[in-house]
Amino acid sequence: MKLTEPILTKRIPSIPHGDPKDRHIVGYDEFVKTDGYQALSKALDMQPAQVLGTVKDAILRGRGGAGFPAGLKWSFLPPQDGKGLRYLCVNCDEAEPGTFKDRLLVDFDPHLVLEGIAIACWACQLDVAYFFIRGEYHHQARVMERAIQEAYAAGIFGKQGMMAGKSKHAVECYVHRSAGAYICGEETGLLEAIEGKRGWPRVKPPFPAVKGLFGRPTIVNNVETLAAVPDIISRGVAWWKSIGVESSFGGMPSYGTKLMGVSGHVTRPGCFEAPLGIPLSELVNEYCGGMRGGKKFKGAIAGGVSMGVLGTDQFDAAMDFDIGRRCDVLGLGTACPTIFDEDTDMVAVARNCARFFMNESCGQCTPCREGSGWIHKLLTRIDRGDATTADLDLLVEIASSMGLNEGTTICGLADGNNWLVRTIVKKFRGEFERRVRPKFVPLHLTAR
Ligand SMILES: Cc1cc2nc3c(=O)[nH]c(=O)nc-3n(C[C@H](O)[C@H](O)[C@H](O)COP(=O)(O)O)c2cc1C
Ligand code: SF4
Repeated sequence: MKLTEPILTKRIPSIPHGDPKDRHIVGYDEFVKTDGYQALSKALDMQPAQVLGTVKDAILRGRGGAGFPAGLKWSFLPPQDGKGLRYLCVNCDEAEPGTFKDRLLVDFDPHLVLEGIAIACWACQLDVAYFFIRGEYHHQARVMERAIQEAYAAGIFGKQGMMAGKSKHAVECYVHRSAGAYICGEETGLLEAIEGKRGWPRVKPPFPAVKGLFGRPTIVNNVETLAAVPDIISRGVAWWKSIGVESSFGGMPSYGTKLMGVSGHVTRPGCFEAPLGIPLSELVNEYCGGMRGGKKFKGAIAGGVSMGVLGTDQFDAAMDFDIGRRCDVLGLGTACPTIFDEDTDMVAVARNCARFFMNESCGQCTPCREGSGWIHKLLTRIDRGDATTADLDLLVEIASSMGLNEGTTICGLADGNNWLVRTIVKKFRGEFERRVRPKFVPLHLTAR
């Protein structure tokens, strides 16, 4: 499944490695010379509802993890009430382990993201955009701040903005740097963080579109989602729908390309743009130069640790939004897989991921706060060879009981822990069983 033409990375000729400070950033002038802000100009000639309708018809699914269609989300905004501001929060928290895709856009083509932001604000009639960026992304925050200044000077944002008078709608745009916690990437944790509070997710409903930042209607979208909007506006819905794949279950399709950051045991790790639906094996073999050192594929974290793992027989899994149903993982997530070769210790992988979830739980919900600690303790015991089969069963039982989908927690962080543990134990059960003792043998009677 070859990429016929790059869309998101069209101004990024090859994915360079090395120090980001040495890389070429597409500035405003270069962006405009290469058709930048043409889509915004076209959007401003349309009614906001038409622009929103176009994004809705394109079925642009969110690139932040859940795959919720952007246009549909935008359509949930209530009509303007004149009682205060309406917000766009751009999610560049990117703290999901193994995920490094949004930073690529900010690193090289920040104006593409800003164009998407401006179009979204026009379509949804939003007044303020907050670019919420991961605390560790110091360089990217500076790049974005500079690009925003250029966009103000060019009449895109501010009172004299929206392409210098084409529209009287005024949008202010700010960078907000995260203090640095995974939970601040969850959309309502993010809202709390911008409000200056501890990043504790809120109970939903009400959803942010109705009651979000400072209690006002708010759209939260991922960086990559917004970066896809300009091309949809300039090239149309039919073009967009010609890329990607339909759902094999008669559900929502997976249109467009996706940034896929591949890490782990491959020859050439990196972030690549590929059409949705590409088999994981093709991504590894064609884009990443194959498995490192010619080793065999053992498994993969599907798309950020929250999605769970793919087993040895799932190397050909199609990377689209149906992957959850097809391959018994939570979903496509960020589409940034971590690849494991035949030498990988899957118990150690599970323990490492469990430590992450334990450390990042915000502590509001008992199943997540306590469960994540118990899971880590059990996995440590299994890893050290101190556990019994009863511990393995208990591990799966605890994991299975926590999460939004189970109705026991406020946010999806616990679902990530649940899926990671359940899928890794299920798909590599033999490896876990070899590390535990039968439950009927008392520990003090066994040889160490
Ligand atoms: C624990 C947790 C962390 C998340 N982190 C991110 C993140 O770093 N970036 C992101 O875009 N979405 C993240 N999400 C998903 C957001 O809650 C939200 O669905 C997303 O930003 C919406 O944008 P989209 O519809 O454009 O994908 C996270 C969700 C959870 C539960
Ligand atoms: S599920 Fe975990 S991270 Fe999410 S709100 Fe509850 S305790 Fe916090």
